Amino acid sequence: MSVLVVGSGGREHALALALARDPAVAAVHAAPGNPGMAAVATLHEVDPMSAAAVTDLARRTGVDLVVVGPEAPLVAGVADALADAGIACFGPSAAAARLEGSKAFSKEVMAAAGVPTARARTCTTPEEVAAALDELGSPYVVKHDALAAGKGVVVTRDRDEALAHAAACGRVVVEEFLDGPEVSLFAVCDGTTARALQPAQDFKRIHDGGRGPNTGGMGSYTPLGWAQPDLAERVVEAVVEPTLREMARRGAPFVGCLYVGLALTADGPRVIEYNCRFGDPDVQPVLALLDSPLGVLLHAAARGRLADVSPPRFGAGAAVSVVLASAGYPASSSKGDVITGVADADALPGVDVIHAGTALTEDGRLVTAGGRVLAVRAVGTDVADARARAYAAADLISFPGLQRRSDIAAEPLGVVEGAAVRG
Ligand code: AMP
Ligand code: GLY
Repeated sequence: MSVLVVGSGGREHALALALARDPAVAAVHAAPGNPGMAAVATLHEVDPMSAAAVTDLARRTGVDLVVVGPEAPLVAGVADALADAGIACFGPSAAAARLEGSKAFSKEVMAAAGVPTARARTCTTPEEVAAALDELGSPYVVKHDALAAGKGVVVTRDRDEALAHAAACGRVVVEEFLDGPEVSLFAVCDGTTARALQPAQDFKRIHDGGRGPNTGGMGSYTPLGWAQPDLAERVVEAVVEPTLREMARRGAPFVGCLYVGLALTADGPRVIEYNCRFGDPDVQPVLALLDSPLGVLLHAAARGRLADVSPPRFGAGAAVSVVLASAGYPASSSKGDVITGVADADALPGVDVIHAGTALTEDGRLVTAGGRVLAVRAVGTDVADARARAYAAADLISFPGLQRRSDIAAEPLGVVEGAAVRG
């Protein structure tokens, strides 16, 4: 089979690497992809947000499967256009992608499906926000009710900061604070059946120790040696399957990756949020350990036949991804800074340098082109070994203004950002 990956970030690079490893996948195409993906995929200069252009490319390349990586094209209906054209697509319809596109919608579905989550109020006026903050208490959690690239949420003890964030957003969801380590669980779904991947953990704040503002993710690792071994199974039963039933009942069956962001609270796992795609960088280490064919899995899901293929298997050992971000991230980003050392890092055993915000200049130099620039991913015998390998490789890479955390996947593994509250 041949596969078209839509998107250009670290998630799409990691997907392309895993697809290229699947013996059933003869060719990988990317729209538009990135300089790192060129080693395993044919790149096409196509706008991922244009449903017509993506559908046309899928037809021209004759691919058997399209995997839409990021949320924005999914929310915009790219998967719907592919479905209309009769092309198998891994990624939800616009109606199903609302699980990520609208926090209020996702809370409504969770309530209808009986999924354990934080109590919440959807608010549009300052008076409603003030009442909800007082009802649900401090630490305050205020979420923009729309896509905000991981920056729409403020968690704070400062009531004025909470009110100011709400005022800047318009419609918001105010939530009860969930206390406990956060886990990312990716469920591959075909509308009715779900298959969980191995859980991972994502380090969201920019600075060591979980300090500073939220980012799209500064690093990740798997497996979670400290978590209950049946966590994925329990979450599929208590969260994913009821959600799939509720979405089907609403006429919007969910086909794609349901990314369940969980807090492991004293009362058990509770959902922090849904995303309609794989997490990045959280899925990177998960895909490094995947021991069964990714193309076969995603194709079966896209065709509604997940029950016919064997569940995903994972190798022993561990994997860690460390993100290298550009100057100014997450408030801004820096473009055009020259990057060195990538080839040397990538050549180390067990290491993949995953591109996210990179570009090639006309004279062929690799430069920064976004906030999260690269992720250095390494596999090892255990988390400590994978972590040591990832940092040893990351040490070889430099560019002006490079930012990275030094504590990705460090001890204590169970207690990370969950409790990081500002104010
Ligand atoms: P989200 O965009 O919903 O993923 O939120 C971003 C981050 O804010 C999460 O990864 C959590 O660290 C934090 N967060 C969101 N909702 C809550 C909550 N109800 N309780 C505690 N932390 C939260
Ligand atoms: N790493 C968090 C996300 O992909 O949303």
